[in-house]
Amino acid sequence: MGTLKLKSLSFNIFLIALLVCPFSIRTCHARQGKQYWPMPNKYFPTSMNNYNFAPEKISGDNSAIFNVLDYGAKGDGRADDTKAFEAAWEAACKVKASTITVPSGSVFLVKPISFSGSGCQPDIVFQLDGKIIAPTDSGSWGSGLLQWIEFAKHDGITIKGKGIIDGQGSVWWNDSPTYYPTDDFTYNSSEDLQQTESNSGKLPNTKPTALRFYGSNGVTVTGITIQNSPQTHLKFDDCTNVQVFSVGVSSPESSPNTDGIHLQNSQDVVIYNSNLACGDDCVSIQTGCSNVYIHNVNCGPGHGISIGSLGKDNTRACVSNITVRDVKIQNTLTGVRIKTWQGGSGSVQNVMFSNIQVSEVKTPIMIDQFYCDKSKCANESSAVAVSGINYINVKGTYTEKPVHFACSDSLPCTGVSLNTIQLNSVQESEHLSGPFCWEAYGELETATVPPIDCLKTGKPSGATVQSKSDYC
Ligand SMILES: *[C@@H]1O[C@H](CO)[C@@H](O)[C@H](O)[C@H]1NC(C)=O
Ligand SMILES: *[C@@H]1O[C@H](CO)[C@@H](O)[C@H](O)[C@H]1NC(C)=O
Ligand SMILES: *[C@@H]1O[C@H](CO)[C@@H](O)[C@H](O)[C@H]1NC(C)=O
Repeated sequence: MGTLKLKSLSFNIFLIALLVCPFSIRTCHARQGKQYWPMPNKYFPTSMNNYNFAPEKISGDNSAIFNVLDYGAKGDGRADDTKAFEAAWEAACKVKASTITVPSGSVFLVKPISFSGSGCQPDIVFQLDGKIIAPTDSGSWGSGLLQWIEFAKHDGITIKGKGIIDGQGSVWWNDSPTYYPTDDFTYNSSEDLQQTESNSGKLPNTKPTALRFYGSNGVTVTGITIQNSPQTHLKFDDCTNVQVFSVGVSSPESSPNTDGIHLQNSQDVVIYNSNLACGDDCVSIQTGCSNVYIHNVNCGPGHGISIGSLGKDNTRACVSNITVRDVKIQNTLTGVRIKTWQGGSGSVQNVMFSNIQVSEVKTPIMIDQFYCDKSKCANESSAVAVSGINYINVKGTYTEKPVHFACSDSLPCTGVSLNTIQLNSVQESEHLSGPFCWEAYGELETATVPPIDCLKTGKPSGATVQSKSDYC
């Protein structure tokens, strides 16, 4: 049983797993992760529609508990508790399904730390009920770090509890004279290093992500709040079987580049029952992601739920099987958006946005294959292909433009389908404009409000099919 890998995502296999599991419930928890992902067919199988997404029980029952207070943590918000966390981790790591606890009622100052799972037993639980705060002095960050708290190379890792992870990011938002323009800025440029050196004593230019998971399988994050990150709040890189539920992200609308949840090179990811409010994308889905299911999430303020930006600096990007469903988005720049740079390659395929309720969103529906963070980017003919993008039941109010589809001349968007769209302007304003489409092919399955008559029907004629770069 322990080695049974549920490669197939089908519901049938889930049922078989249920029959086999009762005798070893714990072992099954990690394996069951996958069944949360429903196949993102154009319409969900009814079995998945009725599926009960109640959070599974996660526990480290019958196993050892390692409390950071027993390892010398002060929890007074001032003393450096990093060493105590490291010591508690080292002990917990040796015991299968152990629990490391960060108790409520205390505030722990922890410097940049990595909880490495390599050489550790699997299925460790990090029970976070207290508050962890980041240092704000430049000395703690060296010449710049990509993250503050990292969990790397785990096989089964859970963070749960009512606790708070506070990045104390305001010093980063206010301190640096320049902000990185995009969420996918390359941090290791020589310019970066020079700036860092000349600014010694100041915080480095590289702003850390608050909580990052890297190279792990079977990750669960639930219950906790992550707030005031210097940059992204919660990031998954190279992870599989990820569940995030009942999580809060909270940062001011004015905080720059503070994505809520950022996914990269990760597969089989489910995010639900969460409230995400920040200065940038509530969820950002980057290259290498597939089988991502986001539902029952509140988003805003921020930049909405975004796929991309993809294909920067002529890179290849592959994103597929993304479902965003039963989501409320309020006071954001965009609602559901796909953004790609000119000159990239690869593809975005099979995306479903359904039951999206928007409120005072500048542009609720957007595909932008001309994404550019400067005033001008060179025109290029290659592009990240965008196809099979479905919008069903998108309703609510906008403040500027209901729909914006700006697709590549050489590689138009195809298979864009719209069904039951009802978007009203929040008020009369001179900034309002109607739906915009450029080289967007697809179909209106129902009448829409407002009427969207700019979508082209059928398939692009004569346009070059970029078969090589389409392939992902
Ligand atoms: C930054 O690092 C990546 C990966 O290590 C590398 O591909 C890229 O060329 C580096 N960029 C610069 C500007 O050094
Ligand atoms: C996307 O979903 C389809 C089924 O709808 C599946 O065949 C395909 O393997 C999935 N793609 C990835 C990259 O997992
Ligand atoms: C890029 O193409 C657009 C549309 O064809 C055109 O309006 C614009 O001037 C071009 N920009 C550059 C920098 O060539």
